[in-house]
Amino acid sequence: MKALILAGGKGSRLRPITHSIAKQLVPVANKPVIEFGIEAIRNAGVTDFGIIVGDSASEIKEALGAGERWGAKFTYIPQAEPLGLAHAVKTAQPFLGDSRFIMYLGDNLIKTGVDELVKEFDTGSFDASILLTKVPNPQEFGVAELQDGRVVGLVEKPKEPKSDYALVGVYLFNPTIFEAIDTLEPSFRGEYEITDAIQTLIDWGKDVRPHIVTGWWKDTGTVEAMLEANRLILEDMAHSIEGECCDKTMIDGPVTIAKGARVVDSTIRGPAMIGPCCEIIDSYVGPFTSIAERTRVENSEIEYSIVMEDAVIENVDGRISGSLIGRGATVSKTGRKPMSVRLVLGDNSSVVIP
Ligand code: TTP
Repeated sequence: MKALILAGGKGSRLRPITHSIAKQLVPVANKPVIEFGIEAIRNAGVTDFGIIVGDSASEIKEALGAGERWGAKFTYIPQAEPLGLAHAVKTAQPFLGDSRFIMYLGDNLIKTGVDELVKEFDTGSFDASILLTKVPNPQEFGVAELQDGRVVGLVEKPKEPKSDYALVGVYLFNPTIFEAIDTLEPSFRGEYEITDAIQTLIDWGKDVRPHIVTGWWKDTGTVEAMLEANRLILEDMAHSIEGECCDKTMIDGPVTIAKGARVVDSTIRGPAMIGPCCEIIDSYVGPFTSIAERTRVENSEIEYSIVMEDAVIENVDGRISGSLIGRGATVSKTGRKPMSVRLVLGDNSSVVIP
């Protein structure tokens, strides 16, 4: 069994952050989102990974290395253009060869892990297995039609869904998938769709099985989804204070304060995570906030946000909420007149001022 993780793509929905960082490396609870997937697959006993990379190849390679950290072997597979998930799979054919494999979207998170699914597929004789989860709004997803324990149809964003089971970004295939991909034409959005390839398997009478996920699943492709994933991971976090908390600091609820961090005269209300060597001074850090290493928050309030490393937030009036703040970004208030708002924003940035 091999693994194929997709870490190419355009990441257009997460701009401007994806102008400067691959979306698979955006931290959730201070850890690149792709590492959750790698861990889940490694925990299921798979060690031979192919990682599809696009424009951000060098950054992804530098962050993940050759796989030693996980006792695994990583082979990086460049995809010349992000022409769709099925195109990515086809690009990996020389690496995957005759193996059965698990395909995982590098920006997805599932709570339950993939052990059971991998075991079921490894010991079964079916051609494909797809992960499904019950959603309240199937019209917005790829939806599977089920009959007698099999998948008998897939429809992208159906107006009248035949079930409320949406596709999660995890699939298992045997090499028949390559033959199905060879027959595909690009979809209306110009991409080779994996759902079309699976539909082809179904049309050929192949055995495609559903696997229903009961815990949560998140595609972190938008800022809202990224913040929600951060919330879900932080909710399960243990309480651990290794950094220094001094003066009138108050810690409330599950909070992680990493080694080398210093919290002075502040209130941290968990679930929240403060990374190594951060300084939190005279501030409030509220629930579902993760702050990455070497960030300084001074005389400010922040909650339900992700702050990446080396950021500075100081003297901000009002509370920052629902925000994704990039590496080395500065948010501050000038004490001097004119009290105008001064912005240096990258392309596709968005700022909401009360
Ligand atoms: P998507 O989120 O579907 O696509 P995208 O990354 O291009 O983002 P957006 O729609 O915001 O522009 O991709 C899911 C995962 O698959 C993600 O980790 C990127 C990866 N991917 C590839 O590796 N190759 C591809 O051709 C595509 C489309 C996605």
